[in-house]
Amino acid sequence: MSIQKIYQYPDPVLRKKTERINVFDENIKKLVEDMVETMYDAPGVGLAAPQIGKSIKLIVVDITEDPEGEKKYMVMINPEITAHEGSQLDEEGCLSVPELTANVNRYKGITVSYQDLEGNSLELSTENRFAVVLQHEIDHINGVLFLDHLSSLKRSLYKKKVTKWLVKN
Ligand code: NI
Repeated sequence: MSIQKIYQYPDPVLRKKTERINVFDENIKKLVEDMVETMYDAPGVGLAAPQIGKSIKLIVVDITEDPEGEKKYMVMINPEITAHEGSQLDEEGCLSVPELTANVNRYKGITVSYQDLEGNSLELSTENRFAVVLQHEIDHINGVLFLDHLSSLKRSLYKKKVTKWLVKN
């Protein structure tokens, strides 16, 4: 297992089209282990494969219930939102969009179809905060960042800030 580099905005890999996963082998299991280690090291509550430079439809999300207890996570392969209802506004941040948190409007509840590490087809319905995390990570595998959901003013302010950092470094 090893911690992977997390790519940051405006790296083009975050916008690249991702491929479906059709082979459920040891390589995917190893990649998932790396992603989980990278997510907890950051630390974050979710990580999508494009964030470590892999253009495939794979996300990992933290589902730990007891903060003192053992870490638990969930792996979703080829996830897709198949139904949604309502809306909610909640604060988001992203390991690939440093130094920014903002309120984002999302669906209140969603149903996601996905595959597990063995390739079994599954479905999950959830709402509130966990639904936000899933929508955020599924956006990543569609080349979308939470930044894209903000007003054009907020987005351009952030772009200016990043440009300044890039010039300095
Ligand atoms: Ni993110």
